[in-house]
Amino acid sequence: MNIPSHVSIIMDGNGRWARERGLERTAGHAHGVDSVRACTEAAARAGVKYLSLYAFSEENWNRPKEEVDTLMSLMVKAMENEVETLKKNHVHFKVVGNRARLSGLLNSMIDSLDEATVRDARMTLVVMLSYSGRWDVLQAAKRLAEEARRNPSLDLESIDTESFSSYLATDGIPDPDLIIRTSGEQRISNFFLWQGAYSELLFVDKLWPDFGQEDFAAALEAYAKRDRRYGKVK
Ligand code: IPE
Ligand code: IPE
Ligand code: MG
Repeated sequence: MNIPSHVSIIMDGNGRWARERGLERTAGHAHGVDSVRACTEAAARAGVKYLSLYAFSEENWNRPKEEVDTLMSLMVKAMENEVETLKKNHVHFKVVGNRARLSGLLNSMIDSLDEATVRDARMTLVVMLSYSGRWDVLQAAKRLAEEARRNPSLDLESIDTESFSSYLATDGIPDPDLIIRTSGEQRISNFFLWQGAYSELLFVDKLWPDFGQEDFAAALEAYAKRDRRYGKVK
């Protein structure tokens, strides 16, 4: 089977999952962590090289403070609990996003978990935190402009899509082959705007806390049947 090298998931539907059960939205987020664990295992087992998870968007900062705080503390708790499992399964943990908006505690935990899991890794788990596609393209353009200002001999004509990509926050991570979104919504919600140019999209109706290993396997099967053409004639 043709296994995608980079699978990305827009993990959506935690709030609806909780509402259906008469629970607080935050209970849905807590259960969403189990789906993260399940999909990380399933991806590593299938031989996926990069699994990126859209965990918190730049726009999600506009949610009520208690919800934001719960999401951030769930992140801290999950990082504390999963360090051994990540190491055992040879999964390198990485965070991509607007790190300046994260707390000092969260930032230092991210750095130490990244360092603790980098050796002998077979898969990279990229948690997209305080990320948005427009933020990423904008920060890349700003960094490039800054470089041009510092170095007036920089030949702008030589900047191509590949070199521009190296300014993105995802530098070093290949573009996603497959982007899955749960919960039935069919939109990108400011996720991988540049990197997703040729990604296969898969929208599934299940809410994120209900999305398990079999669903991940089914997504890989659906991907294997896709015919990627990149604008060419086959
Ligand atoms: C996804 O679930 C988690 C985050 C965006 C942080 P939601 O919280 O968006 O759940 P719904 O879409 O309201 O059901
Ligand atoms: C997208 O979900 C962001 C994440 C899953 C982290 P949202 O629930 O924030 O997106 P919208 O508001 O439905 O577009
Ligand atoms: Mg949502």
